[in-house]
Amino acid sequence: MDLFEYQARDLFAKHDVPVLPGKVIDTPEAAREVAAELGGRAVVKAQVKTGGRGKAGGVKLADNPEDAVVKAGQILGMDIKGHTVHKVMLAATADIAEEYYVSFLLDRANRTFLAMASVEGGVEIEVTAVEKPEALAKIPVDALEGLTDAKAREIVEAAKFPADLHDQIINVLKKLWDVFVKEDALLVEVNPLVKTTDGVVMALDGKVSLDANAEFRHPEHAELEDAAAANPLEAKAKEKNLNYVKLDGEVGIIGNGAGLVMSTLDVVAYAGEAHKGVKPANFLDIGGGASAEVMANGLEIILGDPAVKSVFVNVFGGITACDAVANGIVQALELLKSKGEDVSKPLVVRLDGNNAAEGRRILTEANHPLVEQVETMDGAAERAAELAAR
Ligand SMILES: Nc1ncnc2c1ncn2[C@@H]1O[C@H](COP(=O)(O)OP(=O)(O)O)[C@@H](O)[C@H]1O
Ligand SMILES: [Mg+2]
Repeated sequence: MDLFEYQARDLFAKHDVPVLPGKVIDTPEAAREVAAELGGRAVVKAQVKTGGRGKAGGVKLADNPEDAVVKAGQILGMDIKGHTVHKVMLAATADIAEEYYVSFLLDRANRTFLAMASVEGGVEIEVTAVEKPEALAKIPVDALEGLTDAKAREIVEAAKFPADLHDQIINVLKKLWDVFVKEDALLVEVNPLVKTTDGVVMALDGKVSLDANAEFRHPEHAELEDAAAANPLEAKAKEKNLNYVKLDGEVGIIGNGAGLVMSTLDVVAYAGEAHKGVKPANFLDIGGGASAEVMANGLEIILGDPAVKSVFVNVFGGITACDAVANGIVQALELLKSKGEDVSKPLVVRLDGNNAAEGRRILTEANHPLVEQVETMDGAAERAAELAAR
């Protein structure tokens, strides 16, 4: 999960990383009071989960509270690389002497944590990294040893930070390492880390990405989730422990097992070429144990997507036999109907593998008006695409 800058700032503050006071608001009017609290002058910063806000005009200096209202009004509603600005952070201003870059991240390719640092930070760091790679120090950090004093010193020396700042920057690195480890982050980046004209080092911009696999250790992180941006069906699926992904076509796809679901996407996209170019609308992996309840939850989510015109249920019976899946489908349709859900979209079902014959018999016997069976995967994909194209 990527965080907004203001959330990163709050986590930094929690772990004693030096940051400036700031407050997030969502109306221009609210800027007046906040700017006054901050001493009149303030930096108004777009809160969007993408970089390069400064260059895009999403970071502006306001000289006084009235000006802050004007600048907030200009930035709220702005589009930055496809992200609409719904919130701005007002932050105290720093008198910047120099801008640096530091980060900790998980380096998957080398199976280690990595520290990166540069004295050439600021808005051009991506360019620097490409055109002048020697200006960006990269030092692996052993996960078990962590950021020792010696390691922190190695980083500041490799990045060639000014000698008089070494102690301050080592202190900041250790605090950032605390954020990285204690919050279970995959990325903690500060750009710029600045030296002020008074010689004080502080973090002016922060980017933090938290590890979703460690969510169970951090119930307090749940509130950091951006509810406004989440797809409601994806949220519902997550709540029910289903793997659901929204795509932008018309054929809903339910399958068991990631591999089968992936190849189902391919055959549907291929079949769709001959049917007005219909494509998969989403996919949902019901995994191994496709009980009636799991199937009902899955169907409810897939049918809840207004883009879906037909549904392809593609199951290869393994540990869960096809008769159980067939019973699941029949009961799921009854369950949804009894809950008053709209079940009016055609379902194409292909059952194969363990107990396929019995599964097919159950569906034939149930004779549900919306359910059609097709024996082969290609044939079923063809039929689902045809129905979606109508
Ligand atoms: N609180 C602040 N005081 C003074 N200048 C700031 C402040 N915050 C950001 N800036 C300046 O604006 C630039 C861009 O802001 P930043 O937060 O890094 O956004 P982005 O990286 O998305 O462009 C920074 O490099 C810095 O020069
Ligand atoms: Mg930045």
